[in-house]
Amino acid sequence: MKYSIATLLLILIIFSGNSQNSLFIPPILEGSKINLYVQNGSMQFLAGGETTTIGINGNYLGPTVILSRGDSVQLSVINDLDEPTTMHWHGLHVPAGLDGSPHNVIQAHAVWSPRIKVLDQASTYWYHPHLHGKTAEQVTKGAAGMIIVRDNQESALNLPRNYGVDDFPIVVQSRAFDSNNQFVVNTADDHTLLINGTIDPILKVPAQVIRLRVLNGSTNRVYNIGFQGNNQLYQIASDGGLLDSPVALTRLMLSPGERAELLLNLSGLKDQNLDMLSFGSELPNGIYGAVVPGVMGMGSIDGYSANLLNGKNFKLLRLSVTDQTAQAVTTIPSKLVLIQKPDPAESSITRNITLSASGMEMGNLNGPFLINGQSFSMERIDFSTKLGATEIWQISNMTAIAHPFHIHGLHFFITDIGGRQPDHSRQGRKDVVLVPAMQSVRLIMKFDDFSDPEIPYMFHCHMLSHEDDGMMGQFLVTGVPTGLNTLADDFAIRIYPNPFTDQLTVEASGVNPNLVTIEITNSLGQLYLQEKISAFPATLYTGNLKTGIYAISFKYGDRLLIKKIIRR
Ligand code: C2O
Ligand code: CU
Ligand code: CU
Repeated sequence: MKYSIATLLLILIIFSGNSQNSLFIPPILEGSKINLYVQNGSMQFLAGGETTTIGINGNYLGPTVILSRGDSVQLSVINDLDEPTTMHWHGLHVPAGLDGSPHNVIQAHAVWSPRIKVLDQASTYWYHPHLHGKTAEQVTKGAAGMIIVRDNQESALNLPRNYGVDDFPIVVQSRAFDSNNQFVVNTADDHTLLINGTIDPILKVPAQVIRLRVLNGSTNRVYNIGFQGNNQLYQIASDGGLLDSPVALTRLMLSPGERAELLLNLSGLKDQNLDMLSFGSELPNGIYGAVVPGVMGMGSIDGYSANLLNGKNFKLLRLSVTDQTAQAVTTIPSKLVLIQKPDPAESSITRNITLSASGMEMGNLNGPFLINGQSFSMERIDFSTKLGATEIWQISNMTAIAHPFHIHGLHFFITDIGGRQPDHSRQGRKDVVLVPAMQSVRLIMKFDDFSDPEIPYMFHCHMLSHEDDGMMGQFLVTGVPTGLNTLADDFAIRIYPNPFTDQLTVEASGVNPNLVTIEITNSLGQLYLQEKISAFPATLYTGNLKTGIYAISFKYGDRLLIKKIIRR
């Protein structure tokens, strides 16, 4: 039997599925001033009505921000929403006051412009809102973007780094839509995959070594990434930096918040299609994404078993291999960078951090989940550590489901997972670790550079529904400031006394008072006082404020300083 070319093509199209949306590649933003406009938008994801979204400089997701180690950058976040938000630089080693945590609220239509020095190693980071109780909602609607940090060590290696040509951002998210095509937040019905915001995507790639920067930006889902034909992948970076050498693998488990950079050698594969899958059928139970979310069949999640993605293999992305480019990388390097880990002999303390479900019920997989028996409170500092200290944190998961545990402000190394050394791919710098159900992991970390007597760093589960539900804590790094975090230097501002009672004085030099606005908000971002200043020193009358912790923001043009103040 003979088929015409047209018939063969038709058969090909039918059997190759309907991968026909070309993968969206977010534009690049770089330089010493980065402007991120958080805005309402809408997108045509599905047939029928458009979906209401939140995008950054666009309708869904944000630009890929490229930073170079050693540079000073002003990151301005312009909140064009009608509600407060924050913008967290996930993985970046910045002072707590510039971290974009729930303590750095940006009011509706306000601007926040932290100036940071890039101290991190070349790797893939990301940014996303972190408003307490609203993180899942704002991220689900699309507010997130990738950050690529470059440095000299990475530049000296023969690696693909031509963005959108041989080096690609791959943001993996699962979403649920209601019958009006609107996003549903915090549901186990997340069965639609968006890769960089594209449904059923196809990406043209050259026939050479390519680099995939994979970010799991999902609310709860864990992926088990690999290729249909079990193609060899080489992981070169984990969350916070390059590995010592490429790790050959065919599967990579990636939990919410985690990143990995993968090399794939497509030399000689021109005209072939390769499908990137999540091999959900191979996930052990006790993980969101496996057949059963609880270990040993314990517990259930409302609506989970009805979601056909769970425990199944499904396609994330199709690669369509085309011509090689002029300066193609065609080999996988054998060595990458030297990794320096903190010395366990120097660790001063082992902190025990316990993850549990409310009521200590192991089989409760719907939450809320607790850390050290408590739900998050903005007003409670869970512990303090000292600048310069090396610490071991033991995270013990007393629940039947794995939780991706994340720490702000630094990177850690995993010393063991359930008593075993982590595999090679998890021996590098990390900021998220998936803590298996009913097991413990130990992490070692050193607190360098930044201290703050008032503003804490966060640690939390990166399943955003768990985080919003209170599976979060906060710690201070205390000690002599190094000078890197004195943002106030730019303004020479003094706000006193602190704690205060019925009056507060604000002084500043080198600042035109007519351009200054002062705001006092509580930890939920509710506004208590807003004043224009006409001269310094200025007196604020605070007699009607109840005792508690407040944030005072000093706005000067598009610059902003936020400080914690205490009302006695
Ligand atoms: Cu990406 Cu505190 O989070
Ligand atoms: Cu973070
Ligand atoms: Cu969790």
